[in-house]
Amino acid sequence: MSINIVDDTHNFLTMLKKETNVESNSYSNRLLISGMGGSGIGGKIVETLAAYENIGQVFSWNNYGIPAWMSSNDNLICISYSGNTAETLSAAKNAHKIGCKIEVITTGGKLGDLADDNGWQKTIIEDGHQPRAALPLLLKPLLYKLNFPNIEKMVKEVSEREYQREKIEEIATDLFGKIPCIYTEPSLEPVGYRWRCQIQENAKQLAFHHVIPEMNHNEIVGWTNSNPNMVPVLIRNLNEADEIKNRFEALKNTAWKDIEVVEIFATCKNNLSNMIETIYIGDMASVQLANLNGVDPTPVEVIENLKNELGGK
Ligand code: F6R
Repeated sequence: MSINIVDDTHNFLTMLKKETNVESNSYSNRLLISGMGGSGIGGKIVETLAAYENIGQVFSWNNYGIPAWMSSNDNLICISYSGNTAETLSAAKNAHKIGCKIEVITTGGKLGDLADDNGWQKTIIEDGHQPRAALPLLLKPLLYKLNFPNIEKMVKEVSEREYQREKIEEIATDLFGKIPCIYTEPSLEPVGYRWRCQIQENAKQLAFHHVIPEMNHNEIVGWTNSNPNMVPVLIRNLNEADEIKNRFEALKNTAWKDIEVVEIFATCKNNLSNMIETIYIGDMASVQLANLNGVDPTPVEVIENLKNELGGK
């Protein structure tokens, strides 16, 4: 049994504030971060940060095996909360075969054993959470390993924001009985993806995400014949660039002219803080939505059943 996800979600900031004793590493060449689902989102966050900050070439990987470009000079960090996820184990084994430097972040499991057997650097995370609820615990060591600047400043900034209960309840009410289509600018894409996954796993409700400007060239047309049950959810940034702001506003005046949109603004000063602030809001809204849907947000039996059906493959 894992810790109730409602309690864990309310503890998100406490988890984020926990001390992390992880040394920074220098990664010559490329870094691949392998992980699935709740253990994969940290890699997506860091991959996106790496596109905007000078922290090296970082790529996230959510699949079996490793990309064809990988060579023995490249690095792999495998993240699996349970340590038993087939795709992540496959990435580790394949990277080991070609001689990459490998590190793991896990509670143990087969990945922990592989790390012990092969002398890979292993960061152990506390047990007992649902993997997706352990995001703050999985993400911080990753940021420390990468020597990401101002991590504790980010923690402070995010913790000091106001998270109004009524606002969270209002978001959940707006999404109740609807199919949320979440839109962000590319620098916040992991937030759109996290909202989508949390609504699906916690509230047991379908949700989708896309980014602006790319959706202006395809998905926008789908709204011509929109289903009244679909609701655009815009996760924006108070300091967004004019070209992005113009596009959001133009969409509200054109494709979504007659459609009620839900809008949330990140209020922090940098990209990572904005991501974590809006991820936290989405996590809270998803458990509130589970409440409205009358479902238990914690278990994800369908995921477990599928893993059992596949027998660890
Ligand atoms: C469960 C969850 C899932 C798991 C995924 C991978 O809370 O979010 O998406 O994270 O099935 O399992 P782990 O995290 O154990 O590698």
